[in-house]
Amino acid sequence: MNDLGGAPVAPVLAIDGPGGAGKGTISRLVADRLGWHLLDSGALYRLVALDAIQRGVALDSEPGLADLASRLEARFLSADGNSRVLLNGVDVTDAIRSEAAGDGASRVAALPAVRRALIERQRAFRRAPGLVADGRDMAAVIFPDAGLKVFLTASVEERARRRHKQLKDKGIDVSLSALSRDMVERDRRDSERSIAPLKPGDDARILDTTGMDIPRVVDVVLQWAAERGLTT
Ligand code: C5P
Repeated sequence: MNDLGGAPVAPVLAIDGPGGAGKGTISRLVADRLGWHLLDSGALYRLVALDAIQRGVALDSEPGLADLASRLEARFLSADGNSRVLLNGVDVTDAIRSEAAGDGASRVAALPAVRRALIERQRAFRRAPGLVADGRDMAAVIFPDAGLKVFLTASVEERARRRHKQLKDKGIDVSLSALSRDMVERDRRDSERSIAPLKPGDDARILDTTGMDIPRVVDVVLQWAAERGLTT
């Protein structure tokens, strides 16, 4: 924790990693266990994309999208372990998880002006007693002073298996080998992109979760947070 003479700055635990590594689930569970706030930064990009689609703003119009992002009318509600997301007062919790919003999010997230427009909004999630920040540039750009930076990963096969199960639970049937191929391709694209590429920072602790169950991953992250003095 850092005190520059004003109010003490709330601690941040940043979690990044490739798709299927369990970032979202682990971030939520760690935040619950600590009683900290949660920033799901991917949801913000999904909201910008959905807002653009609803308003008919082209997904490659950088100034138009940056303008939308800076005025985004979004609220994150949480009660009894149940969280909802509102866009312009309408519940879009499920809509932002659609393929269209996900595809749109990856397009708008590649635009520097959109990323810039969301910086302060993301930093505003940092409030006492602490914040778990989930997403790509949490450690490098948004919270470079995060007390703990975790890069969660797992083998491609395991990540594809997890994604397969997630989709199956939702009643969506896709072949495991197709998912594996997609995952390799997405990893390559994500690691090679120049803006917010997918790679662990030098100061990140890497956790390979292959073969680990969810409670064990949560315990390791909590233990690392305690070792860094983020928690008591
Ligand atoms: O994590 P999620 O699937 O919700 O992210 C949606 C999209 O936004 C992905 O394409 C991801 O790469 C991008 N994203 C990003 N920076 C973040 C969070 C998500 O570029 N901090």
